[in-house]
Amino acid sequence: MITIKITDYDGQQHELEAKQGDVLMELLREQDWGVAALCGGMCSCATCHVFIDEDWLDSFPPKESDEEELLEILDHFQPNSRLSCQLSLQTVHHGLQLILAPEE
Ligand code: FES
Repeated sequence: MITIKITDYDGQQHELEAKQGDVLMELLREQDWGVAALCGGMCSCATCHVFIDEDWLDSFPPKESDEEELLEILDHFQPNSRLSCQLSLQTVHHGLQLILAPEE
């Protein structure tokens, strides 16, 4: 199991268990406190925006151009911004920490 730690929109801390290959957005969307993910992972809504802890940024593949272009137009864009629908969890992500980005 992969345990990840999330800070939600209200600053509350949560832990979730994931399996290898789980899409981060799908885990977050299932939670009452989670993301809306309105486009269902089509990389077109940005309602799955998260801030990945700096120490974990390099554990994910780099952004594709469509993810990069969408993130860069957001008010809350930061260098550690990612769209969680584009992130697949692997065993190396055990202990991952992230924050749900403020809603636009
Ligand atoms: S779910 Fe819409 S961009 Fe990720």
